[in-house]
Amino acid sequence: MSQDLFKCTNLSLRSLTMKQPQPLFHLFFLLLIATVSSSSPLDPKQLKALKILTATKDPCNNHTNHSSTTITCDDASPFRRVTSLSFASCSSSLSLPSKTLKPLSTSLLSLSFLNCPSLSPPKHLPISLRSFSAVSSFHRHHGLSGVYLARLVNLTHLSIFSVPVSASGLYVVLGNMRNITSLTISSSNLPGKIPKAFHSNLTYIDLSNNILTGPLRPSITLLTDLKSLNLSRNSLSGEIPNKIGDLTLLKNLSLASNRFSGPVPSSVSSLSQLTHLDLCGNRLNGVVPSFFSGMKSLRHLNLADNSFRGVLPFNESFIKNLEFFQVRGNSGLCYNNTVLSWKLNLGIAPCDKYGLPLSSPPQKQKEEEEEEEDDYDDDDDGDGDGDKKEEKHGSTNKVVLGVAIALSSFVFFIVFLILLAKWSLLLK
Ligand SMILES: *[C@@H]1O[C@H](CO)[C@@H](O)[C@H](O)[C@H]1NC(C)=O
Ligand SMILES: *[C@@H]1O[C@H](CO)[C@@H](O)[C@H](O)[C@H]1NC(C)=O
Ligand SMILES: *[C@@H]1O[C@H](CO)[C@@H](O)[C@H](O)[C@H]1NC(C)=O
Ligand SMILES: *[C@@H]1O[C@H](CO)[C@@H](O)[C@H](O)[C@H]1NC(C)=O
Ligand SMILES: *[C@@H]1O[C@H](CO)[C@@H](O)[C@H](O)[C@H]1NC(C)=O
Ligand SMILES: *[C@@H]1O[C@H](CO)[C@@H](O)[C@H](O)[C@H]1NC(C)=O
Ligand SMILES: *[C@@H]1O[C@H](CO)[C@@H](O)[C@H](O)[C@H]1NC(C)=O
Repeated sequence: MSQDLFKCTNLSLRSLTMKQPQPLFHLFFLLLIATVSSSSPLDPKQLKALKILTATKDPCNNHTNHSSTTITCDDASPFRRVTSLSFASCSSSLSLPSKTLKPLSTSLLSLSFLNCPSLSPPKHLPISLRSFSAVSSFHRHHGLSGVYLARLVNLTHLSIFSVPVSASGLYVVLGNMRNITSLTISSSNLPGKIPKAFHSNLTYIDLSNNILTGPLRPSITLLTDLKSLNLSRNSLSGEIPNKIGDLTLLKNLSLASNRFSGPVPSSVSSLSQLTHLDLCGNRLNGVVPSFFSGMKSLRHLNLADNSFRGVLPFNESFIKNLEFFQVRGNSGLCYNNTVLSWKLNLGIAPCDKYGLPLSSPPQKQKEEEEEEEDDYDDDDDGDGDGDKKEEKHGSTNKVVLGVAIALSSFVFFIVFLILLAKWSLLLK
């Protein structure tokens, strides 16, 4: 960010002033200063608009004061114009009225807010924006609405983190953003589903830590430029589409902490650039595919807390070459102790000669397999119900158990009272 800022400032002339300048050189030097520093003044309308944000006469060169507001300008003539505006750790007195933003809207390409929790979001964002970022900002009850963001049709970068976004789904936000390549809406309470279709060439998607439901539709695999997909910490369900292998440029894939079920599709083996795969905390089952050990780029593999079973098909050198590897929390999975040492501390049991875990871990596995849902329905309001039923089912069981315990203790108590009464009568 500070680099952008310096684009607008004069060149450093220090190296030139080192030697004692000759008179002629002196003249040349003065001329040079004149040309370099005579960049055009800021557009008067924009200058006036910025008055309430900064007191400096030349806001384009504000790198010297320690203001939390950073302004970048272009080099246009006769007047320069503001191209980027960013706010960090704003004071609680800051406000951004329309009369400030409006005069900037002809030239402003980038707007960002970092840690401005007491600010109200501007009424209208300039639709010229190519980049908009909001991190831990705005009054909690304001948040940002999907419709508000959707107007920014020229965006290429949208980054929202820890700011609530109210919309019935991502499709509302992305509807007309044809040029967006990088999308982050994370920790924003975003509901709804992964859209049926995307109209842009996204390369980066982070929708982690929201309340998304429904399946990961195969349509996501049409985003063939995608390098990073993070859908962790949502409530997505169904199987991982086999077409995932079409995303051949994918480097990072996290589906962690969802409700995905079924096997790891075999097409994952064609993701030759994949370095980071996080599938932990789902209901994935079947065997752990042996093709992982043939994936040359893989550095980080997390398969923990699923329902994988059988013999772990990896040798020690593969596991040791990874920077991160986890398989714990798969009670049906075991390791061959002639191939792998217990010292690796994998958190799973060694296998017996039939390839079953030796020490019998808790019966969790069985329950999970019973609960498993294979409703991969693609319609728009049907799915998710299965999950709710299961949860209800689970909690009804608990309630029934609780009531039973309460009732029986009550009966015991009454019997005890009767006995006590009889006994005291006998004593008399
Ligand atoms: C979007 O960008 C294009 C190309 O730079 C420009 O012609 C158009 O006016 C912009 N649209 C808006 C709404 O700013
Ligand atoms: C957005 O993409 C369209 C073509 O898909 C292009 O004409 C337009 O100039 C782009 N807008 C920006 C701001 O790059
Ligand atoms: C996405 O990229 C493809 C080629 O890679 C191009 O044909 C298509 O127009 C692009 N789509 C958009 C919305 O920019
Ligand atoms: C992938 O994730 C790692 C670790 O979180 C990160 O350092 C890297 O930049 C990511 N790569 C991409 C393409 O997002
Ligand atoms: C995905 O998002 C989570 C939560 O925001 C984060 O902790 C994790 O590092 C991300 N993973 C990748 C591969 O980017
Ligand atoms: C471990 O497995 C990898 C991949 O399957 C293989 O290339 C390598 O030769 C094996 N190493 C040993 C020591 O068996
Ligand atoms: C364990 O590995 C040894 C040597 O590769 C093999 O003979 C044996 O069948 C394996 N055991 C299981 C349960 O897979």
